[in-house]
Amino acid sequence: MEILNEIKFVMPSLSVNESTARAVVSSFLTQADPTVEELSDIRTAVSEAVTNAIVHGYRHKKGNIELTVRLMPKREVYIKIRDKGCGIPDIKKAMEPLFTTAPEEERSGLGFSVMESFMDKLTVKSHVEQGTTVIMRKRLAVHGN
Ligand SMILES: Nc1ncnc2c1ncn2[C@@H]1O[C@H](COP(=O)(O)OP(=O)(O)OP(=O)(O)O)[C@@H](O)[C@H]1O
Ligand SMILES: [Mg+2]
Repeated sequence: MEILNEIKFVMPSLSVNESTARAVVSSFLTQADPTVEELSDIRTAVSEAVTNAIVHGYRHKKGNIELTVRLMPKREVYIKIRDKGCGIPDIKKAMEPLFTTAPEEERSGLGFSVMESFMDKLTVKSHVEQGTTVIMRKRLAVHGN
């Protein structure tokens, strides 16, 4: 489908870049005039995915995280977050609520559930030792002004 506008950027897996990612996504989406709630949902979902890339994907090393944000027809927002970290051996299990491989770090295993509930669609692709790609989509409501 036709891409109306797009940004792509790459950042190293530093925890400070969780907020960088939120800010860049928010700023790009301003043109679509999302509601406060829509923007807050998207920011939270982006945070969860970027945090996962940092704390799980690049657990024992540093690497790059690639973020793509697109504005599609019918006010659809497309967000892709990609890492080249350790990958996920069992995606179905990883996406179950409360499943975590880092309980000692007080992770609650709810990141994917949050992404799923705040966005319309969530797709996760992953290969062990190659990395993980999370694609999220959300249709913004049509509103006057
Ligand atoms: N980018 C990634 N690379 C490697 N493993 C990942 C990645 N994202 C998620 N995982 C795996 O999937 C599990 C579930 O992720 P999820 O975000 O739902 O929970 P969590 O990160 O463990 O806890 P929380 O998000 O609540 O702090 C993680 O514990 C981890 O094993
Ligand atoms: Mg998480």
